[in-house]
Amino acid sequence: MLKQKIEGIKSESLEKIKKSASERELYDIKVKYLGRNGSLTKILKNLKNLSPEKRRVAGPVANQVRRDIKEACQNKKKELAEQVDWEKEKIDVTLPGRKTETGHLHPITLVQRDIEKIFTSMGFKIADGPEIESDWYNFTALNFPQDHPARDMQDTFWVKNNKEKFVLRTHTSPVQVRFMKENKPPLKVIIPGRVFRNEATDATHEHTLHQFEALVVGDDVSVGHFKYIVQEFFTQFFSKETKIRLRPCYFPFTEPSFEFDINCTVCNGKGCPSCKGGGWLEIGGAGMVSQNVFAVAGYPKNKYQGFAWGFGLERLAMMKYKINDIRLFHGGDLRFIQQF
Ligand code: DAH
Repeated sequence: MLKQKIEGIKSESLEKIKKSASERELYDIKVKYLGRNGSLTKILKNLKNLSPEKRRVAGPVANQVRRDIKEACQNKKKELAEQVDWEKEKIDVTLPGRKTETGHLHPITLVQRDIEKIFTSMGFKIADGPEIESDWYNFTALNFPQDHPARDMQDTFWVKNNKEKFVLRTHTSPVQVRFMKENKPPLKVIIPGRVFRNEATDATHEHTLHQFEALVVGDDVSVGHFKYIVQEFFTQFFSKETKIRLRPCYFPFTEPSFEFDINCTVCNGKGCPSCKGGGWLEIGGAGMVSQNVFAVAGYPKNKYQGFAWGFGLERLAMMKYKINDIRLFHGGDLRFIQQF
C-alpha cells in the first residue's frame, strides 16, 4: 500500500517536473513534495512508526524517490537555464546610460548654511525653537502688552487649545527668551527658523517664511558692536564691502529700537531701480535688548547689555540670487527650483 503511494508520488512529481516551465514553478514542486510539510517528507518522517518489516520495504523506496525528485529538479533547472532566449536578453552596451536625478538643496537652505558658516566662524552658537509657540513666548515675554496694537503688526494663525493660547510663531524672537533662560551671559547666538503670518501674499509677502535672529549679551555690549558685526557679516555674505545704516523704529522688546539698511548691492549705493534710486536696501529690525526681557529671562536688572536683530531669509536670498517674487520659493515650480 505504502509502496504504491510512494510510487504514485514519484510518477506524479516527475511528470510535473518535466512539464514545468520556470524555475519558480520548479521550486514550488520541490516544496510540495520535499518541503517541510511535503507529502514525501511526511512519509519519511513517519517511517519510524512502522513495523520493522514494513519499514524495511518502504524505507529504501521512499529514500530513492527523494533522490530521484531532487535529481530531476536539478536536471530540469539546468535545462531551463539553457533555454534562455538570448535574442530577447541581448542588451546594447553602447547605448547612453539613463541619468538618475539627484536632489539638491533649496535656495533658502543654501542661504541659511552660508549664514551659519559665517556666524559660527565668529564664535556664535546656533539655537532652535518650536514653530508652534505659546502666546506668552511669542508676545508677552517679549514685552508686548496685552491688547497692545503692536500685536496686530504680526497677525498670525492661532492654534486651538483650551488651556493655553498657542500661535504659529510670527517671528524667531521668542527663542531669544528661551535661550537666555537656559544660558548665562556672555553669549552670542543665531536662531534661524520658519515663521508664519496671516498675510495677503504678493511678490514681497508670504504667509510662511524664514527668519534669522541674532542675540549678543554681555557686560559691555553696545550699538557699535552691532554695527561692526552686521557690516562684517554682510561683507562676507555678498563678498563685497557693505555699509550699514540705522533708522529709529519701535519694537516692544528692544530699547532703543531701529531698522537697518545696507547699501544697495546692485549699484553699491549710487542709486538704481533695485533700490528705487535711494542707494539703500531695507534689511530688518534690531535694537538693544529691553531690560524687561532680561528680567523675564531671569537676569538681574541693569547688569547686562545686549543687542538683537532679526530679518527675513527669503529677502536675503532674493538679493543674492536676484529673485523678484518671494512666492517662487514655495511655489513648487521645478523650472525655478532646479536652477540651484
Ligand atoms: N521680530 C521682529 C519682526 O519679526 C524683528 C526684530 C526686531 C528682531 C528687533 C529683533 C529685534 O531681534 O531686536 O518683525
